[in-house]
Amino acid sequence: MTLVPPGSPLPGGPTGLTVSPTNDSAMFELIAGALWAMLPAYVPNNAAVLAGGGRPIDGGRTLDGKRLLGDGKTWRGTAVGTVVGVALALVLDAVAPAAGDAAGIALPGFPINAAVGLALGAMLGDIGASFIKRRSGRERGAAFPGLDQLDFVAGALLLALLFAPDWTLEVFTPARIAVVVVVTPLLHLLTNGIAYWLGVKDEPW
Ligand code: CTP
Ligand code: MG
Repeated sequence: MTLVPPGSPLPGGPTGLTVSPTNDSAMFELIAGALWAMLPAYVPNNAAVLAGGGRPIDGGRTLDGKRLLGDGKTWRGTAVGTVVGVALALVLDAVAPAAGDAAGIALPGFPINAAVGLALGAMLGDIGASFIKRRSGRERGAAFPGLDQLDFVAGALLLALLFAPDWTLEVFTPARIAVVVVVTPLLHLLTNGIAYWLGVKDEPW
């Protein structure tokens, strides 16, 4: 086996493809940066599961005989989820220099408007999904594969774009969005599976 020096073209390979010592670390930085930037949108739904209960947002109102949102979307869950997401962004900002140094990568910071956009947007995306689920006749807790795993990502990115447009466009590069869209459903199924197994969530989705 012949060793190819880093930076040189692959023998017989397409031109432009080089052996780079930084490919692995670039991939790590891409994935770590993408997940870090999404963390304030990941935790609100989990916090809402723990904090949920009390008055439903729709107050029991119906549309065409079906609940507007259902009992699974409460004021308390939404408020606690949003506050926990924003608080996490502040904590991440505080530890980013040390964590970034330790991992040898640059991590994004969170201006307060971006933090609120991500956390509140995640909750609103989930609420929007419940609205769609009720319209399609699904009862509270019914699964809607795809929507359940990505509703909060769409909500978070849209509200962050509205509240902090420059930050969102700079931080959520197409490559990072691609990572988020691929990894989030897996993470979501994993955390919800754990919550179900622990008995804090009624369904594993
Ligand atoms: N929750 C809440 N408020 C929210 C979101 C969630 O109180 N805005 C709590 C509720 O107790 C809810 C639980 O977290 O039952 C699980 O959330 P989720 O799976 O999103 O709700 P479901 O009960 O499955 O209802 P839906 O079918 O509308 O998603
Ligand atoms: Mg559910």
